[in-house]
Amino acid sequence: MAIKKIAVLTTGGDAPGMNAAIRAVVRTAIDTKVEVMGVFRGWWGLINEELKPLSHRSVSGIINQGGTILKTQRCPEFRTKEGMDRAAATLKKYNIEGIIVIGGNGSFAGAHEFYKQYGVACVGIPASIDNDINGFDTTIGVDTAINTALTAIDNIRDTATSMERIFVVEVMGRESGYIALQVALAGGCEDVIIPEKKFDCQQMCHRIVEGSIRGKASWIIVVAEGAGRAEEVSRKITEITTLETRAVVLGHIQRGGRPTAFSRDMALRLGYEATNLLLEGQCGKAVGLNNGKIISIDLEEAIKKKIWEVDSIYNLIRKLT
Ligand code: F6P
Repeated sequence: MAIKKIAVLTTGGDAPGMNAAIRAVVRTAIDTKVEVMGVFRGWWGLINEELKPLSHRSVSGIINQGGTILKTQRCPEFRTKEGMDRAAATLKKYNIEGIIVIGGNGSFAGAHEFYKQYGVACVGIPASIDNDINGFDTTIGVDTAINTALTAIDNIRDTATSMERIFVVEVMGRESGYIALQVALAGGCEDVIIPEKKFDCQQMCHRIVEGSIRGKASWIIVVAEGAGRAEEVSRKITEITTLETRAVVLGHIQRGGRPTAFSRDMALRLGYEATNLLLEGQCGKAVGLNNGKIISIDLEEAIKKKIWEVDSIYNLIRKLT
């Protein structure tokens, strides 16, 4: 029997482009005469029955907005049996036959459990600035976050060069050095510290001292939050080299802002494909880009730890310094 009603939710950390994905989901479903409920604050909204019908018009004018109109939360309660029972009961009460989950790795893990344990038809759309979904090239929002961080680093470069200082810039990424690596390369940064690579501060300081003897006067060192704190690294550098150092934490600035064309296009294409997949009855899946093409994979595969090729960019940053 054809699906008549679905729900859409955003969960975990917001990412620029989530709104474009919501827009695509809602309009694709409504086009095929399927009702869409918007669930507020992610899994929490499903547990606490915070949801309302969305129309074609409710997603007007959001394509260019960062954040998510549906709000989002991290929801530990959804990891409990009681939480999942309540979420499943809400779906039953509102006759919702499938859900589109827009989020990152933790969100997909929740969707996978919900599908496996309760048979709830779920399709995931990868959206997180962490690029943490296995099997896909990238996630919605990453491109925007990288460009936001890069703009900040370009600004820091002006003052670093003018005042001849060392800057340590901390970017987001608790478990992943993806943003750090991309911005360090594109920003012409002198060094990068990421969770995926062992790092020797003494050696870096040695390179700094050598450079300074040759007349080099400013450095930008990017550190992913999962690999260390900017303040600490900066203090160590001054201790070892005696050179003046400043620390900058970019933090949540990277999560906001207007999505880039790439983040929006990807969100719209994935929103469309994910909805069609759900309506065709293919569940427990995630859709995303693989070598630039849209593919679908099992959620079970998508939640595995993402292993990505770090060395080529890491080594290139060093070579080009
Ligand atoms: O959404 C991913 C992320 O931005 C990570 O890069 C970061 O470590 C974390 O979320 C921060 O989470 P919160 O906003 O809950 O402090």
